[in-house]
Amino acid sequence: MRELGQTDYSQYYNRVIDGVSGMMEWSVLIDRLVVKETSFFRHRPSIDYVHSCLKRMIVENTLSESFEVWSVGCSSGEEPYSLSMIVSDTFESAGLDPYYGVTATDISRAALTIARNGIFPQRKVEMMEPAIRQRYFTQQDNGRYLISPELQDRVCFNHANVLNINEMPSMVQDIIFCQNLLIYFRRWLRHEIMNAFVERLKPGGVLVVGLGEVVDWSHPEMSRAPADEVQAYIKKSVDA
Ligand SMILES: C[S@@+](CC[C@H](N)C(=O)[O-])C[C@H]1O[C@@H](n2cnc3c(N)ncnc32)[C@H](O)[C@@H]1O
Repeated sequence: MRELGQTDYSQYYNRVIDGVSGMMEWSVLIDRLVVKETSFFRHRPSIDYVHSCLKRMIVENTLSESFEVWSVGCSSGEEPYSLSMIVSDTFESAGLDPYYGVTATDISRAALTIARNGIFPQRKVEMMEPAIRQRYFTQQDNGRYLISPELQDRVCFNHANVLNINEMPSMVQDIIFCQNLLIYFRRWLRHEIMNAFVERLKPGGVLVVGLGEVVDWSHPEMSRAPADEVQAYIKKSVDA
């Protein structure tokens, strides 16, 4: 409201609900309210856990035709791109070239624009291992780094509010990765979202959340993964 020089809440409310310009203001408001902090490989144990799950699926030959990952609350893209790097490396090391895709969703349109552009500041990229940096980024004249087209093609960014999860397309996933988002919701809402995630997982699929972000949650179709540094759940196979 200060940015617009407005002091009256009802006037601001009327502005936000007024047609196309209201929709634009609504988008700005959402963007100002959410916390978008993120980084590449932010919680390494969780990313490593995804790597170990994928390796297990390859060894046990339980992969379906396409391998689908969903990064929920993806912010400016560092999380889904990190997941994509791990999946790509794992398939390559196994000598496989199956179809895989990462769906990345967020409520902030501004964050999604940065994510789609795939250009990141030097300080964020230079924290990564040099081998990864060299493989997946190109440094531009201004020092910033552009993500490789190979990864950009794999990640599909979409605007979505996780609170309207039941309105989203119900594509089933092998991995659902949701970190540093559920903490912003009340406990009962976190549980509802977790239940909705279960419906969007393939049998044997894995749900990874931020450590300690969900407590007192269990589901008859899910078993907690025995990993200390990671909070993950595996969907039981149909015949289990
Ligand atoms: C703190 S960031 C976490 C980013 C990334 N997951 C990570 O762990 O680095 C939280 C993200 O959740 C998004 N977010 C907040 N509320 C949301 C909602 N209701 N639906 C979808 N995304 C939301 C924010 O826009 C922000 O990008």
